[in-house]
Amino acid sequence: MFFREIDRELKLSLSIPQYAEELFELTNKNRDFLKQWLPWLDNVREISDTKEFIESQLLRFQKAEALHITIFYRERISGVLGYNQIERVNNIGHIGYWLGQEYNGKGIMTKSVRELIEIGHKYYSLHRFDIRCAVENSRSRAIPERLGFKNEGTIRQAEKVYDNYFDHVVYGLLKSNSLYND
Ligand SMILES: CC(C)(COP(=O)(O)OP(=O)(O)OC[C@H]1O[C@@H](n2cnc3c(N)ncnc32)[C@H](O)[C@@H]1OP(=O)(O)O)[C@@H](O)C(=O)NCCC(=O)NCCS
Repeated sequence: MFFREIDRELKLSLSIPQYAEELFELTNKNRDFLKQWLPWLDNVREISDTKEFIESQLLRFQKAEALHITIFYRERISGVLGYNQIERVNNIGHIGYWLGQEYNGKGIMTKSVRELIEIGHKYYSLHRFDIRCAVENSRSRAIPERLGFKNEGTIRQAEKVYDNYFDHVVYGLLKSNSLYND
């Protein structure tokens, strides 16, 4: 497919239905790991669920409402990231991401989010980049912090993940801020 190469080992690609099988396998393998922080795992039971999700994201991509990207590390799918929502009126990109557990600790997501922001500048003229993380999700919080996002405060019980309501830290980066603050 068409790749955006970050370095020799790390590439990004628009998510397409052909990735569904490998992406589902990664999701399935990491169910318990991801369930700590993400609410949708029980909705993904078969390859067709992942395929339908990618197809729905492509429809939103077509309307410039969202952008779902698959991350390849050493030619294997290691996770995903993207703009879960592109607010056209306000030029805000709401960023989300996850990696398989075995791919944690290599800088994959920090580099990928940096690239996503470049894409947001270049193709969507975004003015603000927004990342929201559970207060206790220190690995996730470290990503916007490495990239120079500002901690803009905490909103209470912002997300229900199975039986827990998580408070969220809101991180924002404005177009004028430096991206290379790590
Ligand atoms: C959140 C998540 C993506 C973070 O993954 P991660 O591997 O910690 O993040 P990165 O890929 O940016 O890697 C950073 C790690 O690689 C190291 N690293 C190595 N090379 C690096 C580089 N060039 N740049 C940055 N970090 C580098 C960092 O030191 C850090 O390791 P440490 O935590 O041991 O200090 C992952 O834990 C995850 O998917 N969690 C479950 C889902 C989730 O929480 N999603 C977010 C919901 S808001």
